[in-house]
Amino acid sequence: MLARDWYYSERRQLGLDSAVASICDRHDDSDARARAVLTMLGVQPGWRIADIGCGNGVLACEAAQLGAEVDAIDISPAMLALAEIQARDRKVAIRTQSAGLLSFAYQPNSYDLVVSEFALHHLPDFWKAVALSRIYGALKPGACFFLRDIVFVSMPDSPERSVEAWADFNIKNHGFARDSVITHMRDEYSTFGWVIERMLTDVGFTLISADYHAPLHGTYHLRKPKSGEQS
Ligand SMILES: C[S@@+](CC[C@H](N)C(=O)[O-])C[C@H]1O[C@@H](n2cnc3c(N)ncnc32)[C@H](O)[C@@H]1O
Repeated sequence: MLARDWYYSERRQLGLDSAVASICDRHDDSDARARAVLTMLGVQPGWRIADIGCGNGVLACEAAQLGAEVDAIDISPAMLALAEIQARDRKVAIRTQSAGLLSFAYQPNSYDLVVSEFALHHLPDFWKAVALSRIYGALKPGACFFLRDIVFVSMPDSPERSVEAWADFNIKNHGFARDSVITHMRDEYSTFGWVIERMLTDVGFTLISADYHAPLHGTYHLRKPKSGEQS
């Protein structure tokens, strides 16, 4: 595609990510969480999988350990370097791609699974929809997309109260610094869960499930219908 002067620059958000610092050195349950997701999705050896916004590559490496061919994609070269170290330490092969949701290279209808966790909120809404249609185009008919992100579950009755409650929750339960929560509210683009659901179905996905299990966390399991099937 020709470079357009109106195309959104994904690199604008580089270094801003409120959660990156904590992701780099946290010792949490991300391996177990990734394994649980991949098992639920029924990953098989030989599947072609993309993890977009892969961060330090935990899920990508878990998928490779299951025998999948994995493209670990991230806009941040620093995160991709961590993903490569992770892969080397675990002795698995992943293919890294330095690109974003709006720029990753793909063959149409080629992936058996696309995963994106906590990256979509870096794009304003119009560009979220562009990213979701690219992911739709990249998937094989009948294949799944697993999306997790920070979304607003309800309307703010009082922004001050809602934001402070959210900050307290994340500080207490996830060990986030207050600054990272503030950066998220001020400079990133989380949107409402119902907006995400509508975008996903308008793009053509069938919504298998939407789960809002923690304050501001939305998890979506989608499927690209086969031709002739209703979405
Ligand atoms: C909060 S981290 C999540 C990392 C990982 N998916 C996880 O759940 O642990 C968000 C990641 O998205 C990446 N990112 C930010 N904007 C992006 C974009 N437009 N396209 C792809 N990745 C992006 C950041 O570099 C960062 O690695």
